[in-house]
Amino acid sequence: MSKIAPSVIKLRKKQESKTKRKGDLAPNPEMWAALKNGKLLNDILEDFYTQVFADSQLAPFFKDATKQRAIEKQYLFLKGIFTGEKCYFGERPRNAHHWMVISNELFDYREKLMEDTLRKYDLAEPLIEQWIAIDEIYRKQIVKSEAFGKKVGGIEIPAEGYEVDVLTVGSLCDVCEAELSPGDKITYHVRTGKVFCSNCTPENTAL
Ligand code: HEM
Repeated sequence: MSKIAPSVIKLRKKQESKTKRKGDLAPNPEMWAALKNGKLLNDILEDFYTQVFADSQLAPFFKDATKQRAIEKQYLFLKGIFTGEKCYFGERPRNAHHWMVISNELFDYREKLMEDTLRKYDLAEPLIEQWIAIDEIYRKQIVKSEAFGKKVGGIEIPAEGYEVDVLTVGSLCDVCEAELSPGDKITYHVRTGKVFCSNCTPENTAL
């Protein structure tokens, strides 16, 4: 039988330990049971993000994301809150939304869409209130009039803009898919990492 490394055992123990959050973020077994241990949560998020991806106000924020990935991230984020398990390893909401200019009105609009979806799936009213209370905790971190750089290890990473660089390895242009060789000059977006060859610079490309 293969031996499990002590670092893996430590990580597993850490994952298995529950969070000790209080208030609206405290583990909520009643909510998790109503969500059929995640089965209903998945159905709700599938429906919610289908609406989001078809919505003219919300869809533009998701232009570089896939619906499936958005559902998976949100599922683990909410599962982590409702069960108290450490199962979400994605970005915290402040950093995840750092480049998105989201007004209070747009936040309300998304919240209403979520509320209507929860009602459609017959979640009890007190549980809907508890769910919305969680969204509200993050309002202050998400609503803003200007994008800000995300902070990683105390360093602010810029949200928008382009840099020019010279490739040290081969790559592809993300616009025309032309093959690029080491030594080629490229432009890249500082947040998304999207690569533009010298024919497809951001100025002459519809982004
Ligand atoms: C108008 C409001 C909102 C908009 C437009 C929005 C938009 C987005 C977008 C575009 C992503 C990236 C998806 C991807 O890359 O797959 C994202 C990720 C995420 N959002 Fe939101 N969001 C909003 C509100 C919220 C709220 C209220 C919460 C929490 C309660 C939330 C939690 C998250 C989480 C946990 C992620 C995943 C972070 C990661 O990439 O690791 N969002 N959101």
